Amino acid sequence: MPDRFYVTTPIYYVNDAPHIGHAFTTVIADAVARWHRLLGDDTYFLTGTDEHGLKVAQSAEAAGVSPQEQADRNAARFREAWDLLGISYDDFIRTTEPRHHAAVQALLSRIKDNGDIELDTYEGPYCVSCEAYYQEGELVDGEFCPIHKSKPVTRLKEENWFFRLSRYQQRLLEWIEGNPDVIQPEGKRNEVLGFIRQGLDDVSITRTSLSWGVPVPWAPGHVFYVWYDALINYATAIGLGVDEERFASWWPHVHHLIGKEIIRFHCVYWPAMLLAAGLEPPHHVHVHGWLLLGGEKLSKSESGAAKLTDIAPARLVDDFGVDGFRYHFLRDVPFGPDSDFTYERVVDRYNADLANNLGNLLSRVATVVAKKCDGIGPAPRPDSPLAAVAAEVHDATARAWADFQPSLALEATWRLVRETNAFLEENEPWKAEPGPAVDAVLGDALEVLRIVSILASPAIPTATAEIWRRIGLTGRPDEQHLPAAAAWGGYPGGLEVVKGAPLFPRIAT
Ligand code: MSP
Repeated sequence: MPDRFYVTTPIYYVNDAPHIGHAFTTVIADAVARWHRLLGDDTYFLTGTDEHGLKVAQSAEAAGVSPQEQADRNAARFREAWDLLGISYDDFIRTTEPRHHAAVQALLSRIKDNGDIELDTYEGPYCVSCEAYYQEGELVDGEFCPIHKSKPVTRLKEENWFFRLSRYQQRLLEWIEGNPDVIQPEGKRNEVLGFIRQGLDDVSITRTSLSWGVPVPWAPGHVFYVWYDALINYATAIGLGVDEERFASWWPHVHHLIGKEIIRFHCVYWPAMLLAAGLEPPHHVHVHGWLLLGGEKLSKSESGAAKLTDIAPARLVDDFGVDGFRYHFLRDVPFGPDSDFTYERVVDRYNADLANNLGNLLSRVATVVAKKCDGIGPAPRPDSPLAAVAAEVHDATARAWADFQPSLALEATWRLVRETNAFLEENEPWKAEPGPAVDAVLGDALEVLRIVSILASPAIPTATAEIWRRIGLTGRPDEQHLPAAAAWGGYPGGLEVVKGAPLFPRIAT
């Protein structure tokens, strides 16, 4: 039986167009899913859009369209952006779909039947942009949202249905303390533990102040608060309430990827809801930091002309290509801490790793094969000095992907590219007479290109497929199976090697 691998991104609000902050999370999830497909794992990669709530309703009103039209329009933009970036999702869930309404109603009814959803009155400061209530003590200067700083909160009073979160404090602590890897990185795990240990208040999970949401089946006029509908998407997509066998085949072995601002929802409320419904909490939550532009979180920044949220993925794809875009976010943005986004860093990384290292290796090899071997690629040597490096690189790359560290994985893979360039410079096959010595060096380099095409395919799927084709192989690198396909000696030799235009034209600085 192959292993099963279920990975999710947050579902994105449709009040806005996709920007590079959204793309960052989605590209990481995509690359990790692609890595697991290479391992032969049964892989399910879910993304989608979060379409209910006040924020979406208000943005639709401002745009003069209905919330559904706004959702349709922007969900389509997310799909387009992901298609552009080669995102290989298996399912794109929209929370306005009937399948999702059914799952939300089923799960929350189950919690109510278990006695953990009850009627009560709530009054408190509410931030519409966050779609969240805050405690008075959390506000900035007594009136502003702690996340949005300059946005005043609204005071809401509602008779709502409450989820008895307070009853789950002990079980949540047991879940996290009993599973040291469940929330990564460690600092975020400690943050969640600290929050839970302070004591948990019950939370209001329904609204009567708007109708744009999933109707509460037992209370006409109420809709579920957007977050309690949204979180359930991860269960809807794998069949909750419809196909319990399918659901059980994926749950709870999930990897949720989330930004740090939504940690409480994913590490406190969501697992508590699952426990209350008699289900297991998720097995892995991976928390990453923010992309920053000028020191302010780009997606929430309000000052200045250049906001991260104004940078559409297509804008960077125009300059760097899909693979240049993906490579930057995977290689240069470590998964975990906040990271500064600058255009110059994208250029530098592109030129260094893609144009000068990988692109150069391919073009050198293809040029010399054309000149010295009549365009027919020789086979590698079984005892090549590069064989041991390739084996080490494979192991280091695999470990880093398993740890959700794409940056380290690519750093490891590129060691092989760099060492092969150095190996060519040492041996200078372009200066030697055609013959067995030249064939040996070029065969080794072609074998490295084959292996690197496989190992780098989760990050740069288009370019690696092109390298594969140019060195004369059939099929695609992302159809290969690891670890066997990375074993030294797979390049058969005797294949036609095509020169072609530069794979990554250098960008002028
Ligand atoms: N709809 C909720 C999530 C519900 S999940 C059940 C939401 N949506 S969002 O559109 O605001 O996007 C959230 C995610 O987008 C973040 O958690 C993060 O993964 C990503 N990012 C948005 N802006 C970002 C940055 N500036 N930097 C990094 N990631 C960013 O919250």
